[in-house]
Amino acid sequence: MNIPSDYKNLQEIRVFREPPVAWIILNRPEKLNAISLRMLDELSNVLKELLVDKDVRVVLIKGNPEGRSFSAGIDISTFINIRPLDALHISKRLQDVVNMLEKFPKPVIAVIDGYALGGGLELALGCDLRIASNRAELGLPEIKLGIIPGGGGTQRLPRIVGEAKAKELMMFGERLKSEDALKIGLINCVVEPEKLDEEAIKIAQKLAEAPPIAIMMIKNVIGFSHRALLEEGLAFEAASFATLFATKDAVEGISAFLSKRKPNFTGE
Ligand code: COA
Repeated sequence: MNIPSDYKNLQEIRVFREPPVAWIILNRPEKLNAISLRMLDELSNVLKELLVDKDVRVVLIKGNPEGRSFSAGIDISTFINIRPLDALHISKRLQDVVNMLEKFPKPVIAVIDGYALGGGLELALGCDLRIASNRAELGLPEIKLGIIPGGGGTQRLPRIVGEAKAKELMMFGERLKSEDALKIGLINCVVEPEKLDEEAIKIAQKLAEAPPIAIMMIKNVIGFSHRALLEEGLAFEAASFATLFATKDAVEGISAFLSKRKPNFTGE
């Protein structure tokens, strides 16, 4: 399937703008959308463009369906005959992209059909929400290659599912079916494969109607909670809460509630 792209000069991802939503499609179907260094560069460049794209309020990421996967992880051929310093470089490059997703000021949703393994799952862990089809399989199988996750999985997975489950997933390297991933809070919802995109757009549209600055602040404040003492986090929360009262969206939200009408948030 030749998926067209609204951004040119891309080989390993595709971008499809449908404001207020933009899709990023991981596009190496013959390798189950495995992540190459070029794919990471393209992701990083595209995220920088979407950051300043005023018409895009939510980003959705999925794999090319022909690849039967969101992504099966870092392209294992990248690991052939590399030295520790090269591996460090690969790990940092993947971590940088996942950090970009996590810090991206607009919501990012991973839309998972098929496999989300290794670096593929790590990319999804950087997203705000993960929604999956009922035939998805998620895991961090690096242990089976004699290595460990290097794209932030050891740090983010325990924060999302707790230490015991994270250790189980990383030490055994087994794949979880979406129903089980849902039970441990690894994904937000499960839907039929043919309804997955539709459901993703529905969720994205709801988020696109929310006040963008407040949404960005939720990401900032929750992100900070992992790095801060409780008192610091609470101070940051209070400061962010107060700052929002300088936005037109807060005036709009409060007056719309009082006059019993639907608010129209403009992001100002
Ligand atoms: N890197 C590079 N190539 C990969 C890949 C990866 N992470 N995952 C799959 N592929 C390739 C396969 O080598 C195969 O290529 P080929 O047709 O040229 O031989 C193609 O994608 C299809 O994969 P295949 O293994 O034949 O599909 P499957 O349905 O039998 O198995 C998986 C699917 C996902 C279970 C299996 O491909 C797998 O275990 N992949 C590796 C997952 C992993 O360890 N990820 C972490 C990497 S750090």
